[in-house]
Formats: sequence, C-alpha cells, structure tokens
Amino acid sequence: MEINILMVCLGNICRSPIAEGVLKSKLSSIHFRIDSAGTESFHVGKPPDYRSIKVASDHGIDISLQKARAFQVEDFNLFDKIYVMDRNNLKVIKQLAETSKQRDKVSLILENQEVPDPYLGDERDFKMVFGLLNKACDKIKFDLIN
Ligand code: 4NP
Repeated sequence: MEINILMVCLGNICRSPIAEGVLKSKLSSIHFRIDSAGTESFHVGKPPDYRSIKVASDHGIDISLQKARAFQVEDFNLFDKIYVMDRNNLKVIKQLAETSKQRDKVSLILENQEVPDPYLGDERDFKMVFGLLNKACDKIKFDLIN
C-alpha cells in the first residue's frame, strides 16, 4: 500500500521543498508518495529558492526540479498525512478542511515547534531550517516504520 504525504508552507519555495526532498531521501518511492505545496500562490510554477536548493545540495539532495504549487482542497483526499511548517499555515489548512477526517490528517511537522520562515533571512537560517526538517523527517520515518 502506498502512503501519500504532503508538506506545506506558505510559498512552497523555501521550507516545504526541503521537507519534500529530505523525506524522499529517507523513504522508498515504491511505498511513499511525497509532495509539497504552499498556502499562497505567489510563486506557483517556480523552482525552490536558490538557498533551499543549495542547503539541500550540500546534503546530497537535489530539489532543483521541483515546481511550486498551491494547496488545493482536493489534496485532503489525495494525501494521508499533511505536515505544516508553522501555526499560521496550520490554521489556514485546518480552516479549509470540510470534515473531521480531513482535519485529522493535518499537523505541525514538529509537534511543539515551528519551522521558521527563512525567506527574509540568510544562509544560516536555511541551515537551521534544514536541521529542523531533517530531525522532523527522522521522526516521521520512525513513526511510519514502527
Ligand atoms: P516558504 O517561504 O513558505 O518556506 O516557501 C516563503 C516564501 C515566499 C514568501 C514568504 C515565505 N513570500 O512572501 O513571497
């Protein structure tokens, strides 16, 4: 059985593309379909931010071919689990849910911590985001396999 996992941030160019790439690097594509999306459509169709591409590449992960897209209500049906980077976007996604089953698919990627928006930051912020997402994806993998 395939498990479908969606990573969500605001623009789908900084955080969720890294989350998608990192989780893909840890899980088999035979059993897991992993995608990402943004709650806003400012950057639809664009590749990830060059700083996200760089930090992922520094860890041997190529995210350069991803293309930003906006979250759609249909994603609630297409994905089993929807991980959101921060509380603002969690609220936006939860408000779009039409049933409790849909709402229950959604959670913060780090249970008690947000992955801060690095867009107006520098390379250090992207490194910190990568570290948080690597930790989060290790836990997601552990929970899926155990
Ligand atoms: P992301 O970062 O949500 O991690 O992709 C952002 C990207 C773009 C903007 C904000 C955050 N923006 O305002 O354009």
